[in-house]
Amino acid sequence: MEQFDVVVIGAGAAGLFCASIAGQRGLKVLLIDHAIKVAEKIRISGGGRCNFTNRDLDPRAPHKHYLSENPEFCRSALARYTPADFIDLLQGAGVPWHEKHKGQLFCDRSADDIVQLLLRECGAGGVTHWQPCAVRSVRHGVGLAGGTAYELDTDRGPVQSHSLVVATGGLSIPKIGATDFGHRLARQFGLRVVAPRPALVPLTFDSSAWAPYAELAGLALPVRIEAEPSAAPPASDKADGTPKRPRGKSRHTEVAFLEDLLFTHRGLSGPAVLQISSYWQPGTPLRIDLLPGQDIAAHLAETKQHSRKLLANELATLLPTRLAETWTAQDPSWQRPVAETSDKALAALSERLKRWTLTPAGSEGYAKAEVTAGGVDTRQLSSQTLEASHQEGLYFIGEVVDVTGWLGGYNFQWAWASAHACAMALPQGPA
Ligand code: FDA
Repeated sequence: MEQFDVVVIGAGAAGLFCASIAGQRGLKVLLIDHAIKVAEKIRISGGGRCNFTNRDLDPRAPHKHYLSENPEFCRSALARYTPADFIDLLQGAGVPWHEKHKGQLFCDRSADDIVQLLLRECGAGGVTHWQPCAVRSVRHGVGLAGGTAYELDTDRGPVQSHSLVVATGGLSIPKIGATDFGHRLARQFGLRVVAPRPALVPLTFDSSAWAPYAELAGLALPVRIEAEPSAAPPASDKADGTPKRPRGKSRHTEVAFLEDLLFTHRGLSGPAVLQISSYWQPGTPLRIDLLPGQDIAAHLAETKQHSRKLLANELATLLPTRLAETWTAQDPSWQRPVAETSDKALAALSERLKRWTLTPAGSEGYAKAEVTAGGVDTRQLSSQTLEASHQEGLYFIGEVVDVTGWLGGYNFQWAWASAHACAMALPQGPA
């Protein structure tokens, strides 16, 4: 049976990075993945350009951009491997990149630049890479070289290692290889798993409730979106989503984002909805301001004095025309010239545009979710090394862990940082 210092299961963002660093530290590393294609999630990320990190990340205040039942857990790893460190790696390898809005960094050419870089780094570390290769079972016992070891039964035969790193990611996008392997393995070794749920995901509505808006599919506009105070676990109360108070999942502050909203055939998507979806609790409403920063009530009151336009046409100076028409079609008292619309009707219209309150029926699920919230409970992991507190030599890194970032490169930065923290701590196995 072949022996390694460490076996890493999952050759995605976290697994590739961890294996490469451990290999370059001189450890004998085996990297295993069951998927046919390497790191497909990196390849499809960021619209094919991989939003690989975010410059706005503040490792001293991780709760600003990460959700977890234990919001401070990710601080240590994020502080020790920062966006600047990953940028240095790309620059050293000549991978060109650029910044988009809100600190988001993307590859200039293609996400494949990052996949190839990680594979080269693994090569430089002498990493043995078995892919595709499934892991049938894992057990922990006495190793061939004495001491304890993990024994894995794989498609390519049994292997033994001193350490085992689980980097199998979340449940999102099963068709490219996502599984609950990591969660099952955690439970096998007595670790708790925070209930997983789709996050950064489009939200859907009952077809009858959505019928008036279905024809708006494809339309996008900037909005302010918020989850009801009672719906927001670790939370924020500023328009850019910045949380006001740092700690505790029991706090119920509101969370809000100023981002673009996209209408779809079945509901709502776009950055605004993806962001809020991570905080949304089923059965609770969302509130949307379709005219953020504008006092529409004052505007309409003033316009009423001199405008001869239909209300829909007046609104179309502030909103996309199709939306203005769909909106005013909802109430006969809104289908008149502004000057002939009652003050009460104008006030009702303003209120509805500023506080559109609607309760999603559900989400598009793991098939469309960018990430999985929940995962291996961080209270049973070391924040320094990502090792399980009561299971020596077993590590969990990346998205399989209960640390979920905002849209905008935060999830990859967690993958890099957790992989780095783990790789730097992995010991050499017994000789
Ligand atoms: P990742 O999912 O990358 O890798 C897990 C690996 O484990 C996979 O290769 C899988 O095949 C393997 N595996 C699973 N089960 C296994 C088993 N039983 N046996 C063996 N191997 C197994 N984030 C971001 O920061 N910026 C972005 O631009 C995007 N964009 C984006 C777009 C889309 C469409 C999605 C779905 C996701 C994103 N993300 C993102 C999220 C980001 O891709 C994600 O958080 C990281 O890839 C997580 O890295 P991991 O290594 O933890 O898991």
